Amino acid sequence: MWHNHVESILATDHETGVKMFEKSSSIIKDPSRFDSNYVPKNLVSRDAQMHELETLFRPLVDYDRPCNAFLMGSVGTGKTATARRFCDDMKAFLNGKGTPIDIIYVNCRNSNSENSVLLNLIRFFDQGYPDRGFSTEDMARVFKNHLLKNKRPLVIILDEVDVLLKKNTVDIIYQITRLSDEVNKPAPVSLILVAQVSVYEMMDQASLSTFKRTTLVKFDRYNYDELKQIVKERAEEALYPGRISDDAIDQIAESSDDYGDARMAVELLERSAIIAEGMTDGEITVENVREAKASIYSMVSESKIRSLDLNKKLILLAVARAMKQNVVIPLSSAEKTYAVVCEEYDVPARKHTQFWSHVQGLEKVSLVRTKVSSDGNGRSTLISLPDIPSKVLAKKLEEILDEEMGSGDSDEMRSVQLRGGHVHQVQRDAPVP
Ligand SMILES: Nc1ncnc2c1ncn2[C@@H]1O[C@H](COP(=O)(O)OP(=O)(O)O)[C@@H](O)[C@H]1O
Ligand SMILES: [Mg+2]
Repeated sequence: MWHNHVESILATDHETGVKMFEKSSSIIKDPSRFDSNYVPKNLVSRDAQMHELETLFRPLVDYDRPCNAFLMGSVGTGKTATARRFCDDMKAFLNGKGTPIDIIYVNCRNSNSENSVLLNLIRFFDQGYPDRGFSTEDMARVFKNHLLKNKRPLVIILDEVDVLLKKNTVDIIYQITRLSDEVNKPAPVSLILVAQVSVYEMMDQASLSTFKRTTLVKFDRYNYDELKQIVKERAEEALYPGRISDDAIDQIAESSDDYGDARMAVELLERSAIIAEGMTDGEITVENVREAKASIYSMVSESKIRSLDLNKKLILLAVARAMKQNVVIPLSSAEKTYAVVCEEYDVPARKHTQFWSHVQGLEKVSLVRTKVSSDGNGRSTLISLPDIPSKVLAKKLEEILDEEMGSGDSDEMRSVQLRGGHVHQVQRDAPVP
């Protein structure tokens, strides 16, 4: 539904006055670049893995020998993307040499039984094969017959294979790797296994003997710079030029940095773009990114904010107000805004040491993040809001504070008036980095 960006179709029914599809997309150029099975041409920082795969698959390319590989790494480290990119590239390369191969991709989370995997394999050759009524042995035989007829080398990617192997009863790995060794030899069948955890322990001896540990290709989590590059390149592919601010790219990279997870980064980019589409800024802002993140993870529960003591609530409100469209602000400007907030709520402002220890308390519960920066002007502490749109957070805090501190109309009026009176001050304090 999100991908319903219709090219400038302006449909006004003059009879009824009904307007539809009025607004065409001004930010997202090609939504298909966000699809989960889209694989970018260039994979950031995965040259080493691509090269290892090349080495592992050289026997297939040079001598028609079956090859195996096991890709391991945590979620969003590009395992699936790399497996598919590598296979697509290898297929194109071999096509160019006049020796075509076939690739079958199976996600074992969706096909989590031996029969279901076999069904996928058979349907590659025979789309009408019925989905029930045949034993595993029947299906294995049917698959092998297809291989004997087909003659093309085949590469099977079993993604999220740990889900399948956990079931323990499965010897499909052995069956598949053994196919090529038999006398009645079909074309070579290679296997690429993909999982978050090591699967060697889950394999039986027979599979292990064919699937050696030397086939392991490891995927590390991405660092901040790599995530930034991934977001940048995807934005160039999916968005019209100049539709995302550098700060917003930084914020997406920062938000996904804790996990080193490119999936989260790409998903945040997509959601931010969809949110920005509905605004008038004409580009994706930091605030859109915060909202996107809040909408995905809603890590900010109201109860978490409510459970803060009064000082922390006031400090968090000050940070939210001072933040505005910025990714990070100096702690000192949050402290200035804090003084204003305290005045507004008629609470004595805490001294710097206490202020700082409350900020650390807020960081412990992941409501703010701080880091020390050192530049030409010496060291200073910066503060950021990792998850929450500052506007949303400020509004929520104001509601909660008004509820807790003011009762009755006159108090309500007072805080509203004071807040109105301080608008200028708050804006002046908000730094522009
Ligand atoms: N190195 C990379 N360069 C560009 N995009 C990447 C890279 N690694 C991952 N991605 C993108 O991040 C998302 C998640 O990657 P994926 O391969 O599904 O991770 P995994 O399979 O390890 O969980 C996909 O949209 C993918 O295209
Ligand atoms: Mg994957």
